[in-house]
Amino acid sequence: MDKVTIFDTTLRDGEQAAGGTLNTQEKLEIARQLERLGVDVIEAGTPITSPGDFEAVNLIAREVRKPIICGLAHADAGAVDRAWEAVKEAKHPRIHVFLSSSDIHLVHQLKKSRKEILEMARQMVTRAKKYLDDVEFSPMDASRSEPEYIYQILKAVIDAGATTVNIPDTVGYSTPHEFGELIEGIFQNVPNIDRAVVSVHCHNDLGMAVANSLESVRRGARQIECTINGIGERAGNASLEEVVMALKTRADFFNLTTGIDTTEIYKTSRMVSELTGFTVQPNKAVVGANAFRHESGIHQDGVIKMPITYEIIDPKTVGIPSSSLVLGKVSGRHAFKERLAELGYSLAEEELNRAFNSFKELADKKRDVTDKDIESLIAEEHRTVSEIYRLDRVQVTCGDRGIPTAAIRLTAPDGQIIADAALGTGPVDAVYQAINRLVGVSNKLTEFTVKSVTEGIDAIGEVLIRIESDGITYTGRGADTDIIVASAKAYMNALNRMPAVKKARQV
Ligand code: KIV
Ligand code: ZN
Repeated sequence: MDKVTIFDTTLRDGEQAAGGTLNTQEKLEIARQLERLGVDVIEAGTPITSPGDFEAVNLIAREVRKPIICGLAHADAGAVDRAWEAVKEAKHPRIHVFLSSSDIHLVHQLKKSRKEILEMARQMVTRAKKYLDDVEFSPMDASRSEPEYIYQILKAVIDAGATTVNIPDTVGYSTPHEFGELIEGIFQNVPNIDRAVVSVHCHNDLGMAVANSLESVRRGARQIECTINGIGERAGNASLEEVVMALKTRADFFNLTTGIDTTEIYKTSRMVSELTGFTVQPNKAVVGANAFRHESGIHQDGVIKMPITYEIIDPKTVGIPSSSLVLGKVSGRHAFKERLAELGYSLAEEELNRAFNSFKELADKKRDVTDKDIESLIAEEHRTVSEIYRLDRVQVTCGDRGIPTAAIRLTAPDGQIIADAALGTGPVDAVYQAINRLVGVSNKLTEFTVKSVTEGIDAIGEVLIRIESDGITYTGRGADTDIIVASAKAYMNALNRMPAVKKARQV
């Protein structure tokens, strides 16, 4: 069976999703998990965009050694040079150059002729090629470009040294049949196409990103660009887990394989959801909470008799934990560590100690500690580990007669304990007002959601918020059995994501 290269762009196109900012450490954590998942290429960011983006791509290039690490650059000398600077220490570096090719973009945005664009593409691939062998080129908005013009550009960039040519459906406009025809046309009309891998990059505006990608590999493409949970610009990109599981489950039809360890899919999906703050819809294929739940009596009966009756994927294949063992107050450190290992976590000694203490505190409040509780607890540990301001105490009074009041104590960046109190329209508002008095960074709350991790009155509550400051959105999450405390943690988490809390309040 032929192998399809899985090019993951969660950290680049995925991060472009509105409100999905990740910090450098979070990007590294995801990149490490993508390596365990077995992706062939990680597009780690666009180094020219900002010093933060450069730093993240560069760190991933140095730390994550197995996959190809790719930096994106628009067709500009400075952007290509910066991409090279960022990826040059990678074991397997790649530069990905893109430039629009549709008349819509040429006329209305770039104000350049087709001839000028073709020349820019050729020059920038030549420039990248001086630095390294592995160069990818994308004619942006390819699906709305004149196919004859795409053939010319592809021929020119392959002559200039591009080893992968990627065909984007940038605005998610194409249908599987049309897109497949475009790919087939490329194989038939680009004379040097045998010297490059044909890749596809599909957006999901009409919900056809996965279908378009799969039709393309049927027609000869051998790289798919995709993201975990399908996150990305606007409606997102083709979802990695759907593409990979379609190829695996229907190998009889596609006769293609990938290098993905599918048992890492569920964990990767949870991690990306956790760190980006984008929750996965319950009915999402492969990784949604309902993807393997059978509600109807007839279906349940069938699955009990023989899973294959209604289940086309064994949940274990995508790494969904099979046992629902619960821990409790009397569970020891050893049992806790074992459970963590079964859930795929391996924590350093100090981290394990902290997590175990949190587990014990939780088990005091809650009779049964489930896998979901443990995942939530570990995520909370990860979130707080590099905080600049730390939440130390939350005290709230509220009710239908009194004025909601909150007293907050924090540990400041210099280690000092600071405290203040405030009134609010409700307990959460009072908490946020008190924190504002201490941290003093102006922002606007744009989203606030609370959900419970498990069923039951004693469940952990998870709060997700988004705040906006200077035009940038920051996501924050917090978990606790007390939802006011969870709200305070989520706010602290969002504030701590602002670059070094706006250089420790200089702004
Ligand atoms: O959607 C798109 O066209 C892109 C390119 C940069 C490949 O993301
Ligand atoms: Zn894209």
